[in-house]
Amino acid sequence: MAKTPSFSCSACGASHTRWSGRCDSCGEWNTIVQETPLSAGPAKKSLGGKRGQPIALSDLSTEETPPPRTLCGVEELDRVLGGGLVPASALLVGGDPGIGKSTLLLQAAARFARNGIKTIYVSGEEASAQVRMRARRLGLEESPVQLAAETNLRDILTTLEAKKPGLAIIDSIQTMWADNVDSAPGSVSQVRAAAHELTTFAKRHGVSIIMVGHVTKEGQIAGPRVVEHMVDTVLYFEGERGHQFRILRAVKNRFGPADEIGVFEMTGKGLAQVTNPSALFLSERGTPSPGSAVFAGIEGTRPVLVELQALVAPSPHSQPRRTVVGWDSGRLAMILAVLEARCGIPFAGLDVYLNVAGGLKIGEPAADLAVAAALLSAREDTALPADTVVFGEISLSGALRPAPQTENRLKEAQKLGFTSAIAPAGGKTGTVAGLTLTRPSDLVGFVGETFGAG
Ligand code: TYD
Ligand code: MG
Repeated sequence: MAKTPSFSCSACGASHTRWSGRCDSCGEWNTIVQETPLSAGPAKKSLGGKRGQPIALSDLSTEETPPPRTLCGVEELDRVLGGGLVPASALLVGGDPGIGKSTLLLQAAARFARNGIKTIYVSGEEASAQVRMRARRLGLEESPVQLAAETNLRDILTTLEAKKPGLAIIDSIQTMWADNVDSAPGSVSQVRAAAHELTTFAKRHGVSIIMVGHVTKEGQIAGPRVVEHMVDTVLYFEGERGHQFRILRAVKNRFGPADEIGVFEMTGKGLAQVTNPSALFLSERGTPSPGSAVFAGIEGTRPVLVELQALVAPSPHSQPRRTVVGWDSGRLAMILAVLEARCGIPFAGLDVYLNVAGGLKIGEPAADLAVAAALLSAREDTALPADTVVFGEISLSGALRPAPQTENRLKEAQKLGFTSAIAPAGGKTGTVAGLTLTRPSDLVGFVGETFGAG
C-alpha cells in the first residue's frame, strides 16, 4: 500500500488527516506539518492472533543495588542530573540555537571521559575539525573523547554497539536520519524515530545517551517535545541573549528532583559554573532605587536571591502596556487586579514593565509579594528599605500565604548580608539571627506597613 501523506503536530506528535492552523490535541497554533506517517495506517490484524513469549515477573521488594552514578566534577551539572549520570539513561538537552548546548556537552564529555567513562561525541551539525577547533579553544584537546561527524543513525548505532561506550552524545537529534523512515531529517517522524531508537539502544546496551534538541519558537522544525515523553531526563538550557548567564534546568528527571537549576556563565573559554548564583544575580544592583525588590526564591533544592525590577509610567496608549521578562504575564495581571480590588490602588492608564534581573525565569508563586513590592515601589516612586528581601504568595482575596522553605530563604538572605525580610505570617522561620522580620497577614497590611498609607 502506498503511503499517503499525513500531517502531524510538531509539539505533541499527534497525527492529523489534514492541515489546520491549530492542533486539536494540544491546542498549539501553527505546529502542524505535512509528512509521511510512521506506519501506513492501523494494522489489519489485532495482536491477539499470535502468541508472544511469557515475561518473567519479579516482586517490588526485589533487592537491587541502586545504579552507581558517575559525577563529572562540575557541581552545577551533577546536581541538575540528580547527583551524577545514571548508567543506561537517556537524556535530552533542549535549548535555543546558539545558547551553548554544544559547548556545555563538549565540556561535560571531556569531564566524564577524564573520570573514566568511555565517551563518544557524535556531531551531526559540525565537521570533526570544527568540534576539534572548539575543543582546543576550551582547552580540552587532550581529553580522551572519541569524535565522529555523522548523521546516519544506523551507522551510529552500529558504531556504538562495537565501541561499547559508557556515554554517547548526539548533537543534535534534529540532524539524525533513520533510513527506515522516508521523511526529511528534522521532521516529526524522523525525530521521533531517532529518539526512540536511541532510547531503546541506551536501555538495551547500558549506554547513557545525551541528545541535543533545538527548540524553535515558530515550531517549524519538529520540537523535541515529542521526545520528552520517551527519555528519562529532560534538561533545558536557557538564558537571555546579551546576558552571559546560562541556566540549565531539569524539567523532568526520573532519577532526581525536577526544577533543579545549574547556573553557568559563558566566558571566552567556554562555560564556567557559578556556585553562588545569588551573589551573581544581585551583583548589578546599585543603591536601592524605586521599582526594585529582592526576591528570596527557591530553585529546586537551593535558595536563590534575585532582583525584580518594575517600571510604572503613564501610558500614551489607550490600552496600557504590560510587559514581563522572566515571569508569567498572567500572574502579573492577577497581582495588578488584586492590588486594585483589595487595596484600591489602580494601575489603569499606566504602563507596567517587570523584569527579572540576570535572565532568570521564575515560576514560583512565592514571587507574588516581591512583584507587588516592586510594582508599588515603582508606582509610589519610593525605594523599599535597603537590604530587605521579600517573598510570599498572594491569594485573590488579598490574603498572604507563607512560602515553603521559609527558613532556607531567610538563611540565604542573611548569608548575603541582608538585614530584614518581609514574609507572610505563618510558616516555619526557625532561628535566623540578625534578620528583622516583618510579617503581614494580608496585602492591605503589607501596603500599610511598607508604604505608609499606600
Ligand atoms: P554553541 O555551543 O555552539 O550553541 P548551540 O550548540 O546551543 O547552538 O554556542 C555558541 C555560542 O557560544 C556562540 O555564540 C559563541 C559562544 N561561545 C563563547 O562565548 N565562548 C566559547 O568558549 C564558546 C565555545 C562559545
Ligand atoms: Mg550546537
